[in-house]
Amino acid sequence: SSNESAAGIAHVYRGTFVHATYHTAVEILEDGLLGVDTEGKIAFIGSGKEVDRLSQKWGFEAFAVTQLGQHEFFMPGMVDTHIHASQYSYAGTALDMPLLQWLNMYTFPVEACYKDLEFARNVYTHIVKRTLRNGTTTACYFATIHTDASLLLGQIANDFGQRALVGKVINSYPLVRPVVTPRFAPSCSATLLGHLGEIAQNNDLHIQSHISETKEEVNLVKELFPDYDSYTDVYHRHNLLTDKTVMAHGCHLTDGELKLFRETGASIAHCPNSNISLCSGMLDVRRVLNHKVKLGLGTDVAGGYSPSMLDAVRRTLDTSKALTIQDTQYHTLTFEEVFRLATLGGSQALSLDENTGNFEVGKDFDALRVNTDAAGGPIDLINHGEGPKVYVAGKRVVPFVERP
Ligand code: GUN
Ligand code: FE
Repeated sequence: SSNESAAGIAHVYRGTFVHATYHTAVEILEDGLLGVDTEGKIAFIGSGKEVDRLSQKWGFEAFAVTQLGQHEFFMPGMVDTHIHASQYSYAGTALDMPLLQWLNMYTFPVEACYKDLEFARNVYTHIVKRTLRNGTTTACYFATIHTDASLLLGQIANDFGQRALVGKVINSYPLVRPVVTPRFAPSCSATLLGHLGEIAQNNDLHIQSHISETKEEVNLVKELFPDYDSYTDVYHRHNLLTDKTVMAHGCHLTDGELKLFRETGASIAHCPNSNISLCSGMLDVRRVLNHKVKLGLGTDVAGGYSPSMLDAVRRTLDTSKALTIQDTQYHTLTFEEVFRLATLGGSQALSLDENTGNFEVGKDFDALRVNTDAAGGPIDLINHGEGPKVYVAGKRVVPFVERP
């Protein structure tokens, strides 16, 4: 292939690889052999039994291959498609109110603190380290309205080796991109939405916001934007629904609205912990997938109390099972499908799957090396588990170990 003459091989790993493909929810390669080039991209994937042939072909020494232990495997880094970095300071508290009251009582006063850069540095450093330790190699962050603090979040993510979309900012680091971030329709005028749509279109930028999280919010949008067909129409008519758009929640979207998502290529960030914690609703993920709308998972800290994507996986299954309790005919999500949503699905939802999401030749080696036999128990990262080793673009990054 044309790759052969490109960059040389920097690392070769032999062992079990688990990932989702475009056709299969979970594919397990036992005794696989994966080569990473000097640019951090996956150069080849083959069988460990072919190590001699592949070492000749790719020019690496067979003894330099890193052999994974019996209890280890590689999986793609997880993608948090919706997380408020600025709300990490009160994660796990203040969940006693519905959304609109919760925003006024807790969220807005806390977010005002980010005019203080040292406050921002402290919280942003902790959230980046913590999510990396929990296996999030890509995060789509809401910051605050403060430009300096938002720039700082981008810098911190890049320094620790995490891929990030950060709103609001325009900055450039190898791993970080800006995302146009109207908070949600109720906090924006039509004029502002129009300008943001224009900025996104003119600069080919990602877009993120919230949509149809609670029924009260949907009714409020109806009052504030009476001339629009739906909540989705408010964003759509301002060019804010594109294939680089991710909208959080969407619990109460109609079939017609989901159709607009499908047509525009916009995606949904499913945030099950938050949806239950704030009593917002239960998103019917199966229905969204049947509409062929892209969907990823989000923690939605601090509406969701956990910054862990493993928690988002568990809550996604819980909500799907709760829907099954209500309707025994419901087509419950499988854990394999949810694994896919946490990895490749999230990467697709953020339009980043050209480079990440699974182990395909030419993509960045963005991976977790998981040891199910690590001190502290299996991969339950919440219980002092040893966290996975994290690789972004082939480079080992060091997730900080802090108290849970
Ligand atoms: N809708 C608008 N802002 C927010 C927020 O900060 N969190 C959640 N969960 N929903 C929102
Ligand atoms: Fe949110």
